[in-house]
Amino acid sequence: MSEPSGAMAHSASDVNPADVGPLLGGLSAPLAAVSTRAGDVSNAQIAVAITAASIVPQRPRLIVQIYHTNFTHGLIASSGVLAINFLESSQLPLIWQLGMHSGRDGDKLEDVGHALGATGSPLLEGCYGYLDCRVVNAMDGGDMTAFLVEAVAARTNGGGRMTWREARPRLPKRWADEWDRKIAGEIDVSLGTMSAIDPGAWSRRPGG
Ligand SMILES: Cc1cc2nc3c(=O)[nH]c(=O)nc-3n(C[C@H](O)[C@H](O)[C@H](O)COP(=O)(O)O)c2cc1C
Repeated sequence: MSEPSGAMAHSASDVNPADVGPLLGGLSAPLAAVSTRAGDVSNAQIAVAITAASIVPQRPRLIVQIYHTNFTHGLIASSGVLAINFLESSQLPLIWQLGMHSGRDGDKLEDVGHALGATGSPLLEGCYGYLDCRVVNAMDGGDMTAFLVEAVAARTNGGGRMTWREARPRLPKRWADEWDRKIAGEIDVSLGTMSAIDPGAWSRRPGG
């Protein structure tokens, strides 16, 4: 195989984090609870890595990035469905409940009001709105999977939409400190796994 040429020849060592922060930090980062249900197990986690991926209004598609280490990842891989519940500005406590704890350690939705949507995924009460989706493809990123999903149901409830940029300064100090500690650990895990990409992960998923 020939060597990559031009800009592609640069390695990650050419990247200065001080330059990357302002560039990636300026990208839109919605705050959502990504929920799913596999068998009789429901779960939801917080995600900001969510991007629109279709220009066809009646066929909304998105890309949702979920880390391999999350409990939600295995549930989505086996169910093939997820719902994106966009948070309303009053739902700050969900960042702590769903984003700083794992469903492996207990039922995170036990005291979070929800109903099951068309795909079986939990639709959380009080959200700005939701997209109930089926996974149509996936790409492995070593440390995360980028799921391409298509919405089969959508609803805007209204209220104020929460973004990570406006929510972050509102976090109580204890939550912010815990977040800094958690993300530092996850960056270490990613550094060890993000080069080990499985190109056929989705085609060999359980139940696939
Ligand atoms: C503000 C915020 C943004 C996050 N964004 C993502 C994301 O885009 N993708 C992801 O996989 N995890 C993201 N997380 C981390 C998960 O929500 C977190 O690890 C969660 O505890 C996983 O829960 P689970 O093990 O029950 O799946 C985010 C967490 C927070 C607080």
